[in-house]
Amino acid sequence: METAGNVSNGAGPVYEQKEKTLRPEDLSEMLAAGTKQIHEKAENTQFVKDFLRGRIRKELFKLGAVALYYTYTALEEEIERNKDHPHFAPLYFPAELHRHEALARDLEYFYGPEWKSQTSCSKATQQYVDRIHQVGQEDPVLLVAHAYTRYMGDLSGGQVLKKVAQRALKLPPTGEGLEFYQFDAIHSAKAFKQLYRSRMNELELDMETKKRLVDEAVKAFLFNIEVFEELEEIGKTVQEDVLDAGMPVHGAMGGDISKCPYYNAKMAASGGTAYVRQLAMAALRHPTGQVLFATWFAALAGLVAWYLM
Ligand code: HEM
Repeated sequence: METAGNVSNGAGPVYEQKEKTLRPEDLSEMLAAGTKQIHEKAENTQFVKDFLRGRIRKELFKLGAVALYYTYTALEEEIERNKDHPHFAPLYFPAELHRHEALARDLEYFYGPEWKSQTSCSKATQQYVDRIHQVGQEDPVLLVAHAYTRYMGDLSGGQVLKKVAQRALKLPPTGEGLEFYQFDAIHSAKAFKQLYRSRMNELELDMETKKRLVDEAVKAFLFNIEVFEELEEIGKTVQEDVLDAGMPVHGAMGGDISKCPYYNAKMAASGGTAYVRQLAMAALRHPTGQVLFATWFAALAGLVAWYLM
């Protein structure tokens, strides 16, 4: 059973639809399976790993928002162009999904009212933008792959990233600078993603086109990876202004760290020791951690002195 609340592109204000058993040849399943490997690669880029740990340089975060602004401006321009196209119309959800206006507000917050003259589209972002325009104008069915890659991703990891950024960059709890991550018109990301998947599966597409869509989604991930790698390179030249909030990310969210798929994946990969080391280092960077460590060390020294007496 699936509900998505009030949707702007649905058959009525609240609509429900019987849960269908998904088949491997459904587009949503083909996309999920076909991008699994490249998703892992995207998660494992240094920029994304650092972000997840709360090691974010504000300058880089701002440049990331600039890259997103140009990407979504292109994507949403092409979506508007193709909103009545039978291969895209069922996925047209401007009120729920569109991000470029939220990003413009974020950029105004970070760069001030003159943000447009102070920002520009980077090389890697431009290549991504060019491909989105090419697809929208020459092969609109492939736009589905670009919309899927960004919007489903934003609805999946977005809330975690928002909390990490808010804490690391000490941004106001009222959400300024992070509007991109806030989907006000979506009450349940899970239900909306189900709706989006079922809409993708209802598109009348032959197998060859579905395969082309998977290839295009892999390309879309690669464009994102290029942008992350470019940011990583820029980061090497930008002065270190890391506000390291690595340790308390999950605690701050009031959640159970063991339920985080990334934590589990990283723990499995590292055997746990890397994470423990990271936690210890993060603790030592915080004043409270330093005091606790000093107290613990003094107590241990006292115990050794007593034993040797
Ligand atoms: C910061 C690292 C990332 C995190 C924390 C993250 C988080 C997640 C999670 C938890 C899911 C599963 C959601 C579910 O089962 O409903 C997911 C799915 C997804 N992610 Fe990511 N992700 C990350 C990076 C990316 C990137 C860089 C992209 C592409 C630009 C992306 C695109 C997607 C897509 C398209 C899905 C939907 C898969 C599907 O159900 O078909 N993710 N992500």
